Amino acid sequence: MEDLMYEDFAHQFGTMPYDISLKCRELIIKNDFRYVISDGTERDNIILNVLNKIDSDTQFVGSPRRKTIWEKGWNENLSDFIDNDYDLNKLVPKYYRPNQLIRLNQNYIITMNPNFETAYFEVFKCWLFEKYLGNYDSIYEFGCGTGVNLVALAKLYPQKKLYGLDFVSSSVKLVNKIGKVYKWNISGHLFDMIKPDNIFKMDENSAIFTVGAIEQLASKFELFIQFILRCSPKLCINVEPIIELYDMNNLVDYLAVKFHKKRGYSEGYLTRLRELEAQNKIEILKVNRLFFGSLYMDGYSYIIWRPK
Ligand SMILES: C[S@@+](CC[C@H](N)C(=O)[O-])C[C@H]1O[C@@H](n2cnc3c(N)ncnc32)[C@H](O)[C@@H]1O
Repeated sequence: MEDLMYEDFAHQFGTMPYDISLKCRELIIKNDFRYVISDGTERDNIILNVLNKIDSDTQFVGSPRRKTIWEKGWNENLSDFIDNDYDLNKLVPKYYRPNQLIRLNQNYIITMNPNFETAYFEVFKCWLFEKYLGNYDSIYEFGCGTGVNLVALAKLYPQKKLYGLDFVSSSVKLVNKIGKVYKWNISGHLFDMIKPDNIFKMDENSAIFTVGAIEQLASKFELFIQFILRCSPKLCINVEPIIELYDMNNLVDYLAVKFHKKRGYSEGYLTRLRELEAQNKIEILKVNRLFFGSLYMDGYSYIIWRPK
């Protein structure tokens, strides 16, 4: 049986153990991060199931039907949130299902904690937001869904202005409800990243971030990048599955690429940012693959960059 220690988290986040704050260490200690690496017949069966899923999956990222599904999904979270006395746990998206297999360091692992992925992501968010977002007065999340990431930020930085943007109205309602009930400085706004609103203005001294939202644009991210360049926030963070970071000579990675392409998640985003860096329009500060994700792909690679 293996266990993820704070040194392992540091390594995966692309940093040094001393960089893992006390708050993050407490989260690591509080949660169960024990796991077993699958091998032999068990691993073969997992791979077969992944291949079957890739063949049979019918989800098309970016299709008009997906917008209706997001609207409905966040409406369900909104109802649960209201019906359960504004319980913040009800903001966890329902695509995080308990007791799932996980990818770690190009292996499939079986975890002791049924909510391993969300617990891991909490640690990652704590580290990422503490490390990179302390210096900005206003923070915008594009494609914010239930606002669960903004809640993590509000707890860390109650004095900051937080904006949640999404293209479905149920997300906007939910984010506004959170702000109102908890008296946090959080507001929700309708925004389509494929057709950005060019009269939208950002506050001075702002940062922006996305989590699993660029992936949803089916590679139609150019206008969003141009919008960000115009608004010129001080820092941009993207936590996304980044297809350029996989190793096609590794079987577990190869399957992730197949899944990514089958669904039509965005491709070429990092390549485009690198082109812009070569043109001296942006600076890329860090690109890091966590080597962690759900059964089908590594969803938590991150890129930190800023417009010049
Ligand atoms: C995978 S969810 C991630 C939600 C949230 N960032 C999180 O980490 O829980 C993707 C989000 O992107 C939003 N989205 C998809 N296409 C979008 C678009 N064109 N413009 C803005 N938001 C979009 C969806 O409504 C959904 O909230």
